[in-house]
Amino acid sequence: MKIFLDTANVASIQKWAATGLIDGVTTNPTHLSKEKSDPKKIILDICTLLPDGHISVEVTQQDPNAVYKQALEIARLSENIWVKIPCHPQYFPIIKKLVKEDVKLNITLVFSLLQCLMMCKLGVYYISPFIGRLEDIDADGMAFIPHVRDMIDFYGFETKILVASIRSVQNFHDSIIAGADAITVPVEVFEKAINHPLTDQGIEKFTKDWQKLGINNFP
Ligand code: E4P
Repeated sequence: MKIFLDTANVASIQKWAATGLIDGVTTNPTHLSKEKSDPKKIILDICTLLPDGHISVEVTQQDPNAVYKQALEIARLSENIWVKIPCHPQYFPIIKKLVKEDVKLNITLVFSLLQCLMMCKLGVYYISPFIGRLEDIDADGMAFIPHVRDMIDFYGFETKILVASIRSVQNFHDSIIAGADAITVPVEVFEKAINHPLTDQGIEKFTKDWQKLGINNFP
């Protein structure tokens, strides 16, 4: 299962990439709007930082022809870029075209099993179901993810599930259980997920007990 960071903050990516756990990054216009530097430079820096990572970069145009052109330009920036396009019917023809042209796509703003099926039929690489935004409107965001897993496996599609819009460690946990291929987590959630209070307490106790022996060199 791939773990991506859901941020455009280069310093955080650099910090957490050192754990060896980060397989990529998902950026979006909101993330990029929070950073001080030029968005293109940020993207290139992230791509260099994680040369083997999957780096998602979203289109910012609206007109389908402009989105098509922009998707090609974004893809050309680096080999390890997946272009994010919203799951809207106005883009379906260009999504199909881009897939045929071997442009790696991550279809974003996905909220239903049907949208997932449609994107699988178009042969996109990633679909990104948005869990947290469904929870924000009191829907059970995770509920359809196991069905997406079953649907992909049953029909033999190759599209991968990238669970997005994560709000909690519980969402992370549920994504693993649901059989997600990848998850994109905000830095705060990742930080919480890699820690456990009992591990901290255990280290403290072992250290104290060992110190009682007064041995400096071991083994
Ligand atoms: C995913 O690719 C998106 O960038 C992200 O998960 C959106 O999450 P949000 O609902 O927290 O904005």
